[in-house]
Amino acid sequence: MEALKQKILSEGKVLSESVLKVDSFLNHQIDPELMQEIGREFADRYADAGVTKILTLESSGIAPAVMTGLTMGVPVIFARKRKSLTLTNHLYSAEVYSFTKREANEISISQDFITSEDTVLIMDDFLANGQAVIGMINILQQADAQLAGIGIVIEKGFQEGGRKIRNQGYRVETLANIAELTDGQVTFMKEEKV
Ligand code: G4P
Ligand code: NA
Ligand code: NA
Repeated sequence: MEALKQKILSEGKVLSESVLKVDSFLNHQIDPELMQEIGREFADRYADAGVTKILTLESSGIAPAVMTGLTMGVPVIFARKRKSLTLTNHLYSAEVYSFTKREANEISISQDFITSEDTVLIMDDFLANGQAVIGMINILQQADAQLAGIGIVIEKGFQEGGRKIRNQGYRVETLANIAELTDGQVTFMKEEKV
């Protein structure tokens, strides 16, 4: 998605060879017009997938997911990150380990909001090692829901998450796929559709 790539090039800050800071439009301050364009793009790509719900993870997945849900006319559920490992009967939960942060989070959703009748689009702001997406897939399996696919705003294609999830046969749509972050520069994957 060209507008997103231009935004990344103009406002993104390469913090290291593996971390891109996008605090001015996605992770802290949010650009609503860009989020709306992102929502329209995902709605377009998944138009024929029969999506009934969108599942994301707090906090930075919420903005693009809500704009997608608005365009598609479906509700958006965000999984909560809980500090406690205590399970209750009324939750679907999964353990998500972050290699970036070196910590584990339990993510949970209420059983009330996703059922076996649902076809779900999973969304997130970043795809790195894929642990958050794998946790959300796990939750959908517990709910016996269908997975339409995964929508990612920024994929770090040099990390293993995208390959791992696509290799399991899931559809992953990415709006900006980064090949490398060397010398303070962002380089996008060449095969990425614009
Ligand atoms: P994974 O789910 O793909 O395995 O990702 P990982 O554990 O590496 O990521 C942990 C957190 O860091 C996630 O945010 C993820 O979105 C974010 N993240 C990963 N790589 C980058 C990056 O290069 N730049 C930025 N800006 N964020 C990155 P989170 O902890 O869930 O926080 P939130 O922002 O959603 O609240
Ligand atoms: Na996130
Ligand atoms: Na994030």
